[in-house]
Amino acid sequence: MSLQWNIQVHERLYSTQDFLKNLDSVEGTVVHALRQHAGRGRHGRVWEEGEGNLYLSFVLAPKKEAALMGQLSLLMGVAVYKTVATFIDTDTDELMLKWPNDVLLDGRKCAGILLESDITPDGQIDKLYIGIGVNVAHAPLDIASALNAFTAAPLDVTGFRDKLLDTIKELYTRWLDGDGARVLDEWQACAHAIGSDLTVKIGESVQSGHFHGLDQYGSLILSLGENQFKTITAGEIFLSAED
Ligand code: BTN
Repeated sequence: MSLQWNIQVHERLYSTQDFLKNLDSVEGTVVHALRQHAGRGRHGRVWEEGEGNLYLSFVLAPKKEAALMGQLSLLMGVAVYKTVATFIDTDTDELMLKWPNDVLLDGRKCAGILLESDITPDGQIDKLYIGIGVNVAHAPLDIASALNAFTAAPLDVTGFRDKLLDTIKELYTRWLDGDGARVLDEWQACAHAIGSDLTVKIGESVQSGHFHGLDQYGSLILSLGENQFKTITAGEIFLSAED
């Protein structure tokens, strides 16, 4: 059965992600809040509110092995990247994905994605809760950017949301049909180049090296020199041009 979005819009929520997870939701349920006052980001961070920004969470139920979640994480980044690219007036040179799925515009983050899952006892993804925040109108922090600074006229958030959901549906449907390798290729085409200087922070440990590429699951391979490589499945990445 093909994926159908069932969108509910709320004036104000604490967190679309927490609201969605407390619903007994089925695949395709989408929660969109016009305001969000307790948004959560990755690594236990707060996702700051900015008026006129997009706050969205939705459920997928892919019933595939949990190891493939890394590919879905990259796929969401590609979907946001492609959607942003259709709306901004600037050259896409200014737009870049940073592993796994941060969307940078002019070197600063304009969108963030949070993936949380329920896994079945036999290791399948039962439900995947995906939260996406896009700075459409406001960049709430100095290290963030907003799309409207790169458009001739302010964007319509609902129009942006619908284009994003269409793009996710298209990429996800193709991925379900077994096209994981294409997601990895598409991600790489939108992301920091092979060989870029990267620093990876995992808890208290910090390691610097070069980006060597992705493995088949979408994990990042960090080259530490002299044929030494480290596979990163989670962590925070810093590019040398940033921070
Ligand atoms: C990140 O840290 O980059 C991920 C940010 C995810 C923020 C979005 S906003 C909509 C949804 N609701 C939340 O509480 N978080 C996500």
